[in-house]
Amino acid sequence: MKYRSEIIGVGSFVPPQVFTNFDLEKMLDTTDEWIQQRTGIVQRHWVDAQACTTDLALEASLLAIKNAGIDKSEIDMIIFATLTPDHDFPGSGCFLQAKLGLPEITALDIRQQCTGFLYGLSIADKFIQSGSHKNILLVGAEIHSKGLDKTPNGRNISVLFGDGAGAVIVSARESTNAVSESKIIATKLYADGAFAKELWLPAPGSALGDERINHQLLEEGLHYPQMNGKTVFVHATKRMSECLLKICVENKVDVNDVDLFLFHQANLRINSKVAEMLSISESKIFNTIQNYGNTTAATIPLGMDDAIKAGVLKKGMLVASAAFGSGFTWASALWRQ
Ligand code: ACO
Repeated sequence: MKYRSEIIGVGSFVPPQVFTNFDLEKMLDTTDEWIQQRTGIVQRHWVDAQACTTDLALEASLLAIKNAGIDKSEIDMIIFATLTPDHDFPGSGCFLQAKLGLPEITALDIRQQCTGFLYGLSIADKFIQSGSHKNILLVGAEIHSKGLDKTPNGRNISVLFGDGAGAVIVSARESTNAVSESKIIATKLYADGAFAKELWLPAPGSALGDERINHQLLEEGLHYPQMNGKTVFVHATKRMSECLLKICVENKVDVNDVDLFLFHQANLRINSKVAEMLSISESKIFNTIQNYGNTTAATIPLGMDDAIKAGVLKKGMLVASAAFGSGFTWASALWRQ
């Protein structure tokens, strides 16, 4: 018996509070024009003080389970991708597992930042193919708003990020036919740690002296993300186009035959540049960054859910995805919806 993977349910959730670029003008010495021109972002959702990352993940997960038409008791593994966990440890997968009331099932966190969802999809696919698990809940969720420098000092980064969650159920399809095609056709994963400090959050950390966090580190602002935006931009466009082309060539798929591109949402200009480099029609790229900003591990499942709701993504369509983020990490995936 062979086991093949397919995505059988998708769900997403964003907190209700919206912050437009005009709201940010009041706190960050920025302008709507600067943000829109450089990034395409119009607004983002930020949580209130009470919410935590697994609260958003729970809402998205329950919707994905409902849309998959399964009972939550059928889930046998959680893969949780986030760079903004509820706590340093244990992983958010364990907190979510408890909130879902699914004791003892496998719960795993992955830390691949903006590439987290595609790394998670690849891991889910491998577990399904091994025959060890049947219904995997893969969730990407972030609360960035609590970790941003919301003073003018942080404006180059704080305007970019939003809060949100997206989840999918990756399920096993039994197949007796050795050549039958998996709906998740391929995934390709990459990293280059030489660039780790081009986009990172230094503190708290064990590499910082005798304490993971202290007043001096806080005064230096090392608990806020640090980014070399221009370097990220250059590498993101190069790596996303490279890994997208490679996955298509290796699987004998013409880029023009892809029905829909679900890219990570870091910056509209990054996605336009990738489209230009590969001669992809921009009408085939489903972008959501205008509404949500960059929600890191959540961008792709959030986009998938919105595309389904908008009637743009339909069953049977050939989808290609690519992401790039801190690490540096980057990845691509091809699947039939
Ligand atoms: N509002 C107004 N002015 C600003 C802001 C702001 N929010 N932020 C920076 N500026 C100013 C700078 O101070 C600078 O002023 P100066 O010319 O007087 O010195 C000017 O704008 C230009 O700043 P740059 O950093 O050079 O702006 P750039 O054109 O590179 O755009 C941006 C910045 C949008 C971050 C761009 O580099 C980028 O998109 N990089 C990709 C990074 C990214 O998307 N990261 C997301 C996370 S990673 C991921 O998900 C892939």
